[in-house]
This record gives sequence, structure tokens and C-alpha cells, in this order.
Amino acid sequence: MTEGLPGTLRAAAIAALSQADLGEKARLTTAAGERWFARRLGLSAPTDPALPSRPGRPSEPRLVPPREVPRRSVHTPEGRIAMIHALAHIELNAIDLALDIVARFCGQPVPRSFFDGWMTVAMEEAKHFGLLSARLAALGSRYGALPAHDGLWQAVEVTSHDLPSRLAIVPLILEARGLDVTPSLLAKLAEVGDHETAAILDIIYNDEKKHVAIGAKWFRFLCARQRIDPARRFQEIVRECFRGEVKPPFNDRARAEAGLTPTFYRSLSPLSS
Ligand SMILES: [Fe+2]
Ligand SMILES: [Fe+2]
Repeated sequence: MTEGLPGTLRAAAIAALSQADLGEKARLTTAAGERWFARRLGLSAPTDPALPSRPGRPSEPRLVPPREVPRRSVHTPEGRIAMIHALAHIELNAIDLALDIVARFCGQPVPRSFFDGWMTVAMEEAKHFGLLSARLAALGSRYGALPAHDGLWQAVEVTSHDLPSRLAIVPLILEARGLDVTPSLLAKLAEVGDHETAAILDIIYNDEKKHVAIGAKWFRFLCARQRIDPARRFQEIVRECFRGEVKPPFNDRARAEAGLTPTFYRSLSPLSS
């Protein structure tokens, strides 16, 4: 063990998850991933600290009800800043969600490559948060300058008890939704000439396809091990654990490329017959 650094992946993930300084959170996440991939970390040890009940966060942004979050629009500079701020908030949650999966479920009987997948996700979410934060700075703002809402974290707390449920809701519902909405956002940003933000969203879009694929792969793995139908189990979990809407238009092609075929989600949509 290197002096002063956690010796297990679980402890390293918990240190990053608990960190309230966001630059430091991103640095700890990347360092944990690099040490894990260099095979310099064990998985867990009895001396690991306990998982925090909430991730470490700075005093800003102020968390408010969703209707009090500033309106986003690609057509005005303020609207674009609000949009990028909201996306940065999602990416910050995504860092903590990936770290939480690693730390919370490290006692599960899953192959080592499960943790490779989720540390890849955590490192990429840290990269996304960094790119969007830098873009906010270039536009004269910063992450924390606007209020944000806590809906994302609340939406997943209900899945803390069960790994398949967590995978169904985080990568296969929430991140897959990102695949649905990003292409039209990219087109609008190109239309208004904000190519810098579009370039960042393009990177995020391509990485998020991988995240959905990692989620679908492990969700199918867990279902296969129990000999249950993954699409049916997915629908049961979503009906039980997800309060939001599963609504079209779906990006069927990107979803299918990630292993999330329409049999999983079509019948959940209110518009399906
Ligand atoms: Fe992301
Ligand atoms: Fe992601």
C-alpha cells in the first residue's frame, strides 16, 4: 500500500465519493481508476470506511425543487449557461453514482471486469464534469453559480438494496434517456453556432453509449445467472422503483447498439399499444 492512499478499490471509491471539493473529487476518482487498472488495489478489506449516506458536496449549488431551476435554452447566452450548468450537475451525480455502485456492491459475486467497467464510467463522468465546468468558466460562469435540483440522487436511493435494480434505473433508464435527447440538442447547438459546447456534448454522447452498454451487459449477466428473462425483470423493476416517465421518442438505434433493445422499454411507454 502506498503511504497515505487507500489500499482497496472500495476505500478509494468511498474517499472520492465523500469528498466535497469537486476538483479533488475528480482527481481522486481518476487516481482510484488508474491505480485499479494498474492492479495496485485490492477490492475491499474489513478496515474500509463505511459508505456515506450522501455524497460529499460543496455548499453550492443550492438544491431547490425542480421548478425553481433556471430555464434552459440554446437561444440565449443565459439559457445556454443554465443548460450547461444542468448538464454539469447531472455529470457530477453520475460520478458519485458510478463510485457508489463500485463501493456499495463490491461484495457481490461478480467478476473483476464488473469493477473495471464501473471505474471506466466513473473516470469518464469525471472527465465530462471537468469539460462542462471549463465551458462554464469560458462563458463567465461556474458550476455552483445557479441552483440545481436533487431529483437524480433521490431517484436512485430506492435501488440501494439491489444491484439489478440499480443497473436498471441508472444506466438503462437515466443514461439511456441521455442518448434519446442528446442528438437534437447537438443539432440545436450547431444551429446557433455554439460549436465548443457541441464538441463537448459529442464526446459525452459517445461515452454514454458505452455506459449504457456496460449497464446492459451486467444487467443481462445477473439475469442469466438467475435464469430470468432480462426484459421482463427490467420492466418489473422500473414499475416498482421508477417514478418518472419512460417516454418516446427513443433513440432506438443508439439504444440497440448499447444492447438495450426495444423489448426492454417499449411496453413501459404510455404511448405503447
Ligand atoms: Fe457522463
Ligand atoms: Fe454516464
